[in-house]
Amino acid sequence: VTYNFEISNATRPNPDGNGGSRIVMLINGVYPGPTIRAKWGDTIIVNVKNNLQYNGTGIHWHGIRQLNSNQHDGVPGVSECPIAPGRTRQYKFRATQFGTTWYHSHFSAQYGDGVVGPIIIDGPATANYDEDLGALPITDWYYTPAFTLNEVAQHSLVGPPVPDNILVNGTHINKNGGGSYAKMNVVKGKKYRIRIINTSVDNTFSVSMDGHPFTVLTSDLVPIKSFITDQLTLTIGQRYDVVITTNQTVANYWFRVSVGTACGRNDIVGKGVQIGAILHYDGAPNANPTSTTNVVMRTTCIDESTSNLVPFVPNTVPSSVVGTTGRMDLNHFQDPAQDNLFRWLIDGTPMIVDWNNPSLETVLAGSSNFPPNSNIHEMPGDGWYLWWIQSVATIRLPHPIHLHGHDFYIVGSGSGTWDGSTGGLTFNNPTRRDTATLPPGGYLLLAFPADNPGMWLMHCHIAWHASQGLSVQFMERRGEIAGKIGDTGAFKQGCDEWDGYWVNG
Ligand code: C2O
Repeated sequence: VTYNFEISNATRPNPDGNGGSRIVMLINGVYPGPTIRAKWGDTIIVNVKNNLQYNGTGIHWHGIRQLNSNQHDGVPGVSECPIAPGRTRQYKFRATQFGTTWYHSHFSAQYGDGVVGPIIIDGPATANYDEDLGALPITDWYYTPAFTLNEVAQHSLVGPPVPDNILVNGTHINKNGGGSYAKMNVVKGKKYRIRIINTSVDNTFSVSMDGHPFTVLTSDLVPIKSFITDQLTLTIGQRYDVVITTNQTVANYWFRVSVGTACGRNDIVGKGVQIGAILHYDGAPNANPTSTTNVVMRTTCIDESTSNLVPFVPNTVPSSVVGTTGRMDLNHFQDPAQDNLFRWLIDGTPMIVDWNNPSLETVLAGSSNFPPNSNIHEMPGDGWYLWWIQSVATIRLPHPIHLHGHDFYIVGSGSGTWDGSTGGLTFNNPTRRDTATLPPGGYLLLAFPADNPGMWLMHCHIAWHASQGLSVQFMERRGEIAGKIGDTGAFKQGCDEWDGYWVNG
């Protein structure tokens, strides 16, 4: 399947109808961007043209394994140079997984300005349902462009930008009543699949639908043993595919969204409107729902319980993986005597990408001369590895940790410092996904096999934190890293044209 994307900027009214307008960056003029839909096994080709005047770009396919196609991962500074204004890059990769995911710009905080959209890959059915309502992306929305907010965030952590509103499928009302809710149109007596995606830059969402519990089918791109719940919590980048049964009275029902900024500060209250969207039964009036709920909406930052998220296809992580444990200490730093920039650190170093020197290029040139602050972690052999992310930070925040090129098995997680004992760890069919929350002041133990040679980023998906350095790169089986889909030189396209283009953030 082939898609053509043109990225351009425009001044548009805020999608929540607050009356203001701002600069946005859009794919083919729409927000959210077009849904990419493919079948399991398809080759997906996306031609991305950069029509921005002043900014580079690069599109990352979140959660897509990129098996043998590292150079199409879309990460400026790691797997490519930014696509320069006026240039086009072709991404080409195979859909080796199926389910729901999303794509977004991986250039600074640009996705917060609109360069984002859903990906649906149809595979074998893992549940019965009558209709697919498609993707339901939920995001935070700011009346100020992301690059401006990112600049502010670089200089102080005190008061990270608070969202002005949320958007469900690109729309919402504002606190004065303008705008409109997204609507899911259904008929009574059917089962519907809904694909919920958190595409925000800084917020965790809990979601619930009045009178309609969710049968949960997946965690990220991993089919799970289905379970029923009346509430789900998604950190940035996470997805759940759910089925609802329309067995209630013909009426309208609220789809509720509750926002957790920085672990429950819930700042948006009084600023935006926390409702969500409408489930509209055919035959019901065109009016807002009057439905109520007993569900107490969470405002926390904690992941869904891993005991609910049991992969459908079982897998065992070898307990010997503990022998490979690589510890990464997460901390922060700000020195008024130096540049006074707020940085997040892994083992004392903020990862600063060098857009002109993508690390994949360095590797393919046979060099080890990586730019400083590359935060490279080697995975030389083809076995399993265990990575221990340990917060030692005094600022206790949750961090949604996302890994490229793989999904990971969550072998352990908790508050405080891991004591090294294996008693409480899960090796037998642990939760498997591509994004998991590091608890505030806690630890996360992530295992995965080195079965995909490449240069892969792992980072906090809070856009400000990624820009502030909260990333590492895995150099996986470096001798076998190669472009194998044909256009091995493509990643370098644009590097030579990059100098001189100004970018803020
Ligand atoms: Cu959703 Cu590094 O990406």
